[in-house]
Amino acid sequence: MMAGVADNRTWGLEARRVIVVIVNLGKKCIVPGYARFQSIAAASRISTEAAPTSHKKEQLPTPRLNKSSPQAKAFESSNTPRVTIDNNKIVVAGKTIPNIWLRDNCQCNTCMHESTKQRLQDTFDIPQDLSIKSASTSGGQSDVVNIEWDDGHKSSFSQRFLTNTVQDYQARSVVRQGLTSFKLWGSSIAQSQPVVSYEEATEKGMGSVLNAIRDYGFCYIDNTPSSTPAPTEALLRRIAFIRETHYGGFYDFTADLASQDTAYTNIALGAHTDNTYFSEPAGLQAFHLLSHTEGEGGASLLVDGFKAAADLRAADPEAYRLLSTVNVHAHASGNEGISIMPYRGFPVLEHDPATGELLRVRWNTSDRASVEMPIEEVGTWYDAARKFDALLKSAENEYWEQLVPGRVLVFDNWRVLHGRSSFTGKRRICGGYINRDDWMSRLKMEKFGQEEVLGALASS
Ligand SMILES: [Fe+2]
Ligand SMILES: [Zn+2]
Repeated sequence: MMAGVADNRTWGLEARRVIVVIVNLGKKCIVPGYARFQSIAAASRISTEAAPTSHKKEQLPTPRLNKSSPQAKAFESSNTPRVTIDNNKIVVAGKTIPNIWLRDNCQCNTCMHESTKQRLQDTFDIPQDLSIKSASTSGGQSDVVNIEWDDGHKSSFSQRFLTNTVQDYQARSVVRQGLTSFKLWGSSIAQSQPVVSYEEATEKGMGSVLNAIRDYGFCYIDNTPSSTPAPTEALLRRIAFIRETHYGGFYDFTADLASQDTAYTNIALGAHTDNTYFSEPAGLQAFHLLSHTEGEGGASLLVDGFKAAADLRAADPEAYRLLSTVNVHAHASGNEGISIMPYRGFPVLEHDPATGELLRVRWNTSDRASVEMPIEEVGTWYDAARKFDALLKSAENEYWEQLVPGRVLVFDNWRVLHGRSSFTGKRRICGGYINRDDWMSRLKMEKFGQEEVLGALASS
């Protein structure tokens, strides 16, 4: 028995050594997203344009997908498709669409539930050698492609649907990702902040807030009642439900260290993202300073992580590559009996494997645990991280703002880093987290509408 245990332990150590070797080999050649990122970096969606200086505090930026954005053009161009039927195959813009895909994505009520868009047919009941018996176009400007299959089933597809399917991944992801162009910003955003009034941020008006957050990474909601936290909570719930964590859900606290985290003290906090210790950090975070009495300080710091990343990429591509490929671990261990860690390490800069687009910045030096590199090489990660840190702390990237009661800050925790200066006195702050998928769902419905979002499911 004892020998067995000892053997298992030995094997365990050996196995770990083997895994380390595999991971390190893999790092050199298989980097999901990053390689593709390099190949399409030139076509990056990141716009380095400064926020328009013309819009004043009370005005919204122009966040809606409009026809002047390059993404909109790619998407709109799908209205001029070239669909042909060649040798009983559907060919769009020179690309042959496999019959199995077409039939699997048949939009008829028998194959796809009309309202939930859930697949009703068993994909693998479709014969592997299914072929088209006949195909034709109908409707205004031959808008619809009608197909009769050799088993008698009939399908219809709009030309727009077919054409979206053959777009490159970037164009196809516009609806899925709720994209326009990111407006990268530095300290000068102080002169042109995205602001929506509380009166405008009704259930119907939340699109303005969400579009601003998608474009700028944050938005203020001004004139929010501050005598109690309830209106702030209701405002957040107009986006989506509030995420529960080990700290609770919607919070309302005064600095007392009750939750065993530096956020609950009065010390200065450098720019960071929250929840690096979760596999999926919160998508949105909100703060509302309800009151600050008997003291001063506590200015809020925001830094556009996508801007700092773009700066790093331009200044030092190798440092950018390291921060995009080396996985880092994190933890939350302050509360008795809790030590939360993500199920795997994630790099500081994460990219979409399909589009190569920068998706998420994870940066919290307080909560960082191990860096997934052989110890003798880990100095290279520190060198790269130091460069990113210097950009995050540069005067041109730091945007400081003294929050006041009535002004709710909502920001994209996957993009914008936050911090604060130290303060004295008592501050009462409320706020909460919202999941990424939930706010993105709400955003897409506001930006594109249900029909367009559901219409893009198969192709995006
Ligand atoms: Fe934080
Ligand atoms: Zn069907």
